[in-house]
Amino acid sequence: MTIPIKNREGIVRMREACAIAATVLEQLKPLVRPGITTQDLEEAGRDHIARLGARSACYGYQHGSRRYPAHTCISVNDEVVHGIPSFRRILHEGDVVSLDIVVWHDGYVGDNAFTVPVGRVTPAIEKLLRVTREALELGVCAAQVGNRIGDISSAVQTYVEANGFSVVRDMVGHGVGVSMHEPPEIPNFGRKGTGDRIRPGMTLAIEPMVNLGGFKTKTLSDGWTIVTADGSPSAHFEHTVLTTEQGPEVLTLPRAAAAKT
Ligand code: MF3
Ligand code: CO
Repeated sequence: MTIPIKNREGIVRMREACAIAATVLEQLKPLVRPGITTQDLEEAGRDHIARLGARSACYGYQHGSRRYPAHTCISVNDEVVHGIPSFRRILHEGDVVSLDIVVWHDGYVGDNAFTVPVGRVTPAIEKLLRVTREALELGVCAAQVGNRIGDISSAVQTYVEANGFSVVRDMVGHGVGVSMHEPPEIPNFGRKGTGDRIRPGMTLAIEPMVNLGGFKTKTLSDGWTIVTADGSPSAHFEHTVLTTEQGPEVLTLPRAAAAKT
């Protein structure tokens, strides 16, 4: 499948959708503290998305015969991605919580994620968060016109494994635009110089999912929540990036004006 190239109009709309997704994410981060539930984060996310004139791309998202039941994905500790918010899930000091926000606006989708520590966390978890965030930065830097998708994959994997952690293989990054998942797939593992050539006008969701322990995952009986097989904590950072002749441009940056509303 060919990778969609966005025209001027598409890029303008992608910018807007991504700025909204980033603003919502930014508004949720400071709410994370011991004692709140993941449902509290869901409700705040749902309300911020609505206030910014967008819709959640997660709510009702179909996978097989199931529809995702919430507006946000909130994944705690060993939950890698697609955790379903719940009023029973209370956050405790030392937890890590991954917030994944995907919005529709004006026909385009913006996708981003960030993992937040709850209060004080162990040094090992602090390192997990730092390394995953840095792996995302390296992945973004590799998204240069003329490079290949495997250059992004390799940059992420090499850095993560050099730091003693593992990259999830069952879930991958992806193109994003008029739908949440477009070609290409962007694995967080792979070899330099392989895969599709990066051209100007691609919008790519780069999203390292990194486990403190082994790379294996399983799906919980709710049909959505992906957890680490060994129960180790996991982190997830994601940006939507536009590829340009001048280099990669991160589109999921919050806008100061919007963030204040
Ligand atoms: N960012 C996630 C993804 O790319 C969002 C999934 S929404 C859900 O897969 F509905 F599947 F939860
Ligand atoms: Co994504």
